[in-house]
Amino acid sequence: MPLTGLYFGKGWLGGWKQRSFLQAVTGSNFLFPWGHCPWRGMGTFPDPEMRAFLEENTRVTSSGSLTPEIRLRLLTPTCKFWWERADLWPHSDPYWAIYWPGGQALSRYLLDNPDVARGKYVLDLGSGCGATAIAAQMSGASRILANDIDPVAAMAITLNCELNHFSPFPILTKNILNMEQDQWDLVVLGDMLYDEALADSLHVWLKKCVRTFGTQVLIGDPGRSPCSGHNIWRELHKVVEYSLPEPPGSKTMG
Ligand SMILES: C[S@@+](CC[C@H](N)C(=O)[O-])C[C@H]1O[C@@H](n2cnc3c(N)ncnc32)[C@H](O)[C@@H]1O
Repeated sequence: MPLTGLYFGKGWLGGWKQRSFLQAVTGSNFLFPWGHCPWRGMGTFPDPEMRAFLEENTRVTSSGSLTPEIRLRLLTPTCKFWWERADLWPHSDPYWAIYWPGGQALSRYLLDNPDVARGKYVLDLGSGCGATAIAAQMSGASRILANDIDPVAAMAITLNCELNHFSPFPILTKNILNMEQDQWDLVVLGDMLYDEALADSLHVWLKKCVRTFGTQVLIGDPGRSPCSGHNIWRELHKVVEYSLPEPPGSKTMG
């Protein structure tokens, strides 16, 4: 059974001396002014055809993960595209249709330790199905931004918020790594260390968040081999480790 680590990167670089300078820079303007808001507004679902497609090709599930209290629309063995040829899927690869081990660990940790997100402004970077952002919402975060470069993920997140009886929070589908950091209290990343170039970009960008705003960073990750030796690990220490539950249907019938 795979083990999932949750790592906590507060205090990267110990850059607290730079805080006052950087606060002065960011204090004078909002990085994402509402008038030019790059993310989708709350509660909007602009494409009824896409809603129908997602509802037809996913199943609502809350079992087989570390967070049975969160309901999600995911790709399961009862969905047509679980079995269908991958090239027939009409959109980009549906990472959002899987609840990844790192996201599960992170969400479990937030739910079990609600003080971590309560009252905080939280960014879920690479949100996928949105479960970790939803866990932050359940824990009492005061403000949430979910970010994923896949616009279909944004629609799935909207549906998953509805499933859990929340008004959808803002969702940004631009590459946030090309944008200036906002003053998030907490940045959470589930299963984002799967590609070396992405890990390089995240490393630089997260360091800037920590230096500039003293942002707390939590990374849930199973330690995949392409990035298991990446420099980012030197900045992290392990907070907790979880064992994943058996996915439904994985037990052999005797
Ligand atoms: C492996 S999935 C993890 C999803 C979710 N965090 C979880 O743990 O279930 C990685 C997600 O990151 C998104 N992604 C990849 N590069 C990104 C980037 N530069 N900015 C934001 N999201 C990105 C992908 O579209 C995908 O949904």
